[in-house]
Amino acid sequence: MTVGHRAATGAAGAARPAEPLAEPLAELERLADAAMDERARGYVSTGAGDEVSLREAGWEHLRFAPYTCVDVSRPDTRTELVGHRLDHPVLVAPTGCHRLVHAEGETASARGAAGTVYCLSEYTTTPMEEVARAAAGPWWVQLNGSVDDAFTRERLEAAAAHGATAAVVTVDTPVAGLRERQGWDGVSLPEGLAFGVLDRAPYPVRSPAEPHGVHRPALDARLTWPRLAALCASTELPVLVKGVLRGDDAVRCAEAGADAVIVSNHGARNLDSVVRTSDALPRVVAALDGRIPVLVDGAIRRGGDVVKALALGARAVLVGRPVLWGLAVDGADGVRRMLQRLRYELEMTMALCGTPRLADIDAGLLA
Ligand code: FNR
Repeated sequence: MTVGHRAATGAAGAARPAEPLAEPLAELERLADAAMDERARGYVSTGAGDEVSLREAGWEHLRFAPYTCVDVSRPDTRTELVGHRLDHPVLVAPTGCHRLVHAEGETASARGAAGTVYCLSEYTTTPMEEVARAAAGPWWVQLNGSVDDAFTRERLEAAAAHGATAAVVTVDTPVAGLRERQGWDGVSLPEGLAFGVLDRAPYPVRSPAEPHGVHRPALDARLTWPRLAALCASTELPVLVKGVLRGDDAVRCAEAGADAVIVSNHGARNLDSVVRTSDALPRVVAALDGRIPVLVDGAIRRGGDVVKALALGARAVLVGRPVLWGLAVDGADGVRRMLQRLRYELEMTMALCGTPRLADIDAGLLA
């Protein structure tokens, strides 16, 4: 499956893209903070507990040792991932409640993700079928497991019927993390918004104390290895397991039938003082030894961060908050421009590192 437009940014030889270059992601974050109301800001920007892991999440500690005298006139960011041929290795991570930050919600973010994979969160505020119609390219469905296996199977079947091309099973949220700055450890929606998937659950997902919130019953505190294996076997979709931070767990995922793992600490929103994904990634890659692909997310804000992740062995990366920032600032176009900016920076960094193809990016690139 080929998606997107090859000439989207074209930093070939570090030339500027045809349209004006979008703002750096740090600037987009500032604009989004100003555009969002307090509830949306609290939902998007906070982390767990004392936010130690949120503050330490970055990739700044890694340094490049660039290769020189290489022909870098045509950087090529194309890649292949669980049956998809993609124009670049930056995917949209699942994040909930897009209608909190923009009236068009998930339909706008799915449109803005043209050229890459869009992953729809279980906490979507738009029905799956509407997102499927709006998606500009391949889309994946994310779920946390469920206390009701039949509801899990039903959602996977519905997603496949609506054209989803993979399932992402998140395993790092058996219970909700403590988000003190957000002031709520579930997700609360204002009057008038609904959950596009969870409101169809055959069990109550809303807390009696907070009728507009999805609370702990929506999560699955009993998701064990045998149940994960059964889940993988129950769908024809490739399954990516998200939230893996240990080499031994990554091997168990492969044994359970996963097609890929995503190294993630949920954007530092669940467990505080959790390992940085940039530290966990090489351990997971080493333990899997090429058995299944490894993806990573967490604080990817620059094209250089993408190159660092690939140098540590990731096949692709995902971005979470930046999607919501783009959406808050300018709907689908904001998401598209955020991805355009990252791709431009990725191509420029590849040229400056002497690694014109993704396959050239290896562990030797990091000092
Ligand atoms: C998330 N994340 C997330 N993950 C998931 O598997 N299901 C979900 O519904 C959500 N919801 C969600 C909401 C918000 C507001 C954020 C910020 C994050 C985690 C997400 O997929 C991803 O792992 C992180 O966001 C990646 O880190 P960055 O890019 O936000 O730093």
